[in-house]
Amino acid sequence: MGPERDPGSGERRSPQPAPGRGLEAGSELGSSVEAGEKHAGRVSANGASAERSSAHKVEIEGLGVTFYSHRHSDGFEALRNINLSVGDGEFVSILGRSGCGKSTFFNTVAGLIEPTTGTVRCDGELIGGQPGHAGYMMQRDHLFPWRSVRDNVVVGLDVLGENKRASRRRADELFPRFGLSGFEDVYPEALSGGMRQRAALMRTMLLERPLLLLDEPFGALDAITRAEMQAWLLEIWSEFRRTVLFITHDVEEAVFLSDRVVVLGGPPGEVLVSAEVPIERPREYAEVVTSDEFTRVKHEILDVISR
Ligand SMILES: Nc1ncnc2c1ncn2[C@@H]1O[C@H](COP(=O)(O)OP(=O)(O)OP(=O)(O)O)[C@@H](O)[C@H]1O
Ligand SMILES: [Mg+2]
Repeated sequence: MGPERDPGSGERRSPQPAPGRGLEAGSELGSSVEAGEKHAGRVSANGASAERSSAHKVEIEGLGVTFYSHRHSDGFEALRNINLSVGDGEFVSILGRSGCGKSTFFNTVAGLIEPTTGTVRCDGELIGGQPGHAGYMMQRDHLFPWRSVRDNVVVGLDVLGENKRASRRRADELFPRFGLSGFEDVYPEALSGGMRQRAALMRTMLLERPLLLLDEPFGALDAITRAEMQAWLLEIWSEFRRTVLFITHDVEEAVFLSDRVVVLGGPPGEVLVSAEVPIERPREYAEVVTSDEFTRVKHEILDVISR
């Protein structure tokens, strides 16, 4: 479905956030998940993997998004004909220049924006601008300065009306795993950049959605903290085994973390390539980044980006 027409004015409106459940509630939805099959193909164009997993968590077909606004009364095409399937338990990075449509893509997969053309499915269910199936860590961490760290990480559960004491008990069990022990009662201003990111990720994980959308979670971090966070994220991912879509500008980060790297060109955002990363797990940073396979995949991606 495309942008709606206002029946009163006959004017087209921009895609709007889906009605209703507020910021946090807009970022989740769910069902159960089992560790998944992995794609085993190599590089192929337009998101098609050479060998496709039979258990797709997310299936995107012919997705396009056009925004209508005062600046672009004829419409601004942000995404065009995106085709992508993500296997259950797969870790897929989305790479692309600033403004190519990565966050718009996530907003659409999360159900916050209705596709103008094409479809997004999660577990076979059509996501037509209806949120609820994904844990979404947005580009900024959105920690509330007036809530303690504990109250921040459970805010999504509070919005859902879960029992407050039970939510906080669950959160307290996870604080050590997220490197935040002892910071439960402080306010976000007292956290370092890396700690803020871990708190935001913990909030996303606590919603227990089987699909995680992480929009540049480490973009603002220095190189050393970033490397630590990458290693930590892989541990968390292998422990919790969710399907992850991860936006980054960093080619090495994408290759190190992912089963597959999807490069978007644009605007309008289009899939330029979907490159498999056939490197075994668990991955040890120094070993992986000096391997021939890592260098080969990195160069394949850089070739596409520099075209
Ligand atoms: N609600 C909207 N209305 C009109 N245009 C929009 C809207 N949201 C995004 N855009 C435009 O769509 C394009 C893609 O934006 P988007 O935020 O998806 O890019 P991005 O790839 O995430 O960039 P970055 O890497 O800087 O975060 C931009 O040109 C942006 O101005
Ligand atoms: Mg963005």
